[in-house]
Amino acid sequence: MADVDFKTILSNWTIGKAVLATFALLALYVVGSVIYNIYLHPLRKYPGPKLWAISRIPWNWVNLHGRLAWRLRELHQQYGPVVRIAPDELSYTTSTAWKKIYGQRTPEFSKALDGRGLAPPSINGIKGIVTEDQNRHSRLRRAIAPAFSERALRDQEGYLQSHSTNLVQQLKKRCYEGPQDVVKWFSLTTFDVISDLAFGQPAGCLDNANQPWLQVIGTRAKSIVWFQFAIYYGFFDFMNWLAPKYTVQARQKHIELTSAKVNQRLAKKNPGKDFMSYIVENKTEQLSNLELVIMASSFIVAGSGTGASGLSATANFLLRNPEKMQKLVEEVRGAFASDEEITMQSTSTLKYLTACIDESMRLYPPAPSTLPRFVPQGGDEIDGKWVPAGTAVGVHQFSVGHMPWNFNRASEFIPERWLELPPGSEFANDDRAATQPFSYGPRNCIGKSLAYAEMRMILAKLILNFDMELAYPNEPWWEKQGTYIVWEKLPLMVNFRPRQ
Ligand code: HEM
Repeated sequence: MADVDFKTILSNWTIGKAVLATFALLALYVVGSVIYNIYLHPLRKYPGPKLWAISRIPWNWVNLHGRLAWRLRELHQQYGPVVRIAPDELSYTTSTAWKKIYGQRTPEFSKALDGRGLAPPSINGIKGIVTEDQNRHSRLRRAIAPAFSERALRDQEGYLQSHSTNLVQQLKKRCYEGPQDVVKWFSLTTFDVISDLAFGQPAGCLDNANQPWLQVIGTRAKSIVWFQFAIYYGFFDFMNWLAPKYTVQARQKHIELTSAKVNQRLAKKNPGKDFMSYIVENKTEQLSNLELVIMASSFIVAGSGTGASGLSATANFLLRNPEKMQKLVEEVRGAFASDEEITMQSTSTLKYLTACIDESMRLYPPAPSTLPRFVPQGGDEIDGKWVPAGTAVGVHQFSVGHMPWNFNRASEFIPERWLELPPGSEFANDDRAATQPFSYGPRNCIGKSLAYAEMRMILAKLILNFDMELAYPNEPWWEKQGTYIVWEKLPLMVNFRPRQ
């Protein structure tokens, strides 16, 4: 018995020592990396909170809670135009950083797809246009460019006309029921437009507001932060167990729905001039069925929610600034007597309308997060300072429009700053190029002209047809929203009174 006790003690003692040694090694590793990241790392001189410089965990924590945009804005307000937000990542807020990081072609600052930006980078190993490497991206971009040309845009006007008119008709019917959620109505409209364009068939969302797809997209968006987390720490394959189940299901459902639509579209005998027709006709870059599904998914995700956010933000800021709204009302009602006069061409000449949209996207960019890139081999200089190769760098879209070094009276909604400025204007030193809601360079938004045309026509028709006011003016809207790469999009309730 004494012999057994002795053996047990000995083996416990050995296990104890092994555990102790493991802890000691772990502690050494942690202390070593803390010292390295703070005192020896090449980025040690960049300002930022020490905890964020030590580890990526604070970034992950805030991101998973949907508060990253707000926290990064606070950090830039506290530390200045460039902040170290992780051991190996810098966040910028200048127009010069846009040009350098996103504008440079050779060598390109490649997209950081390791979980800090867009996720997942591929589905079944196939990437989409947004995540492809430089060479294949250029080919894909050339393949779809005809679908976004001036001519194609003119061909597409009919879709914008019919869905924006349908929005006005629906609101005329519903406005007597009480306040309406414009975020929902704008989402339904932009989804109908993009469905026509991407699949050559209407989704009918405006006629039947309870479409499952919009809910699926909303839930899918929230799951992004979980995917980022899993990709970064290397357990993407275990996602199905880790993330909330509904988010994973939403993602699968989205692909299933897109797949079914693409197949229906490809089977059509006489399809119209939609995006697919340009892509399928392009013989230089043939896309497989799965690639087409991923491309269509990119169109749906990139082209519906963003437009709805831009519209919702513009409505929100105008309704909270009656003086600016009055100015816009005068411009729109002075220019048009009827809906028929509202076209892509005629609305493009309304300067104050475009200024209101630009100012709204400065304060509330539809894609508010950083889309980080890696500094190429050999390192490079950004904003006058050398940054080593492999560092993740990016402009923080939400912060950049709010910083006083870019805009005078940055927190106020002042569309006039986007107009031709009178001599001595207080906005003369605004750096307008600092805000790039459609990103910058060869991988910027290909749907930019379409998005402006859509937003201008919808807003002009609403202003011509209705007087509007916020149902709950004292309730904050955007200040309450989280970001999951894109905004959470909370309802914005508006009373519509049809004009005689
Ligand atoms: C207000 C509306 C919109 C905003 C703010 C917006 C914003 C953006 C941004 C920031 C990017 C860059 C993404 C990146 O760097 O990874 C982008 C890319 C893209 N957008 Fe938009 N977008 C809008 C509307 C649209 C529309 C209507 C479409 C039409 C389908 C569209 C299609 C695309 C596509 C295909 C890309 C990928 C381009 C490439 O990688 O070459 N977007 N958009």
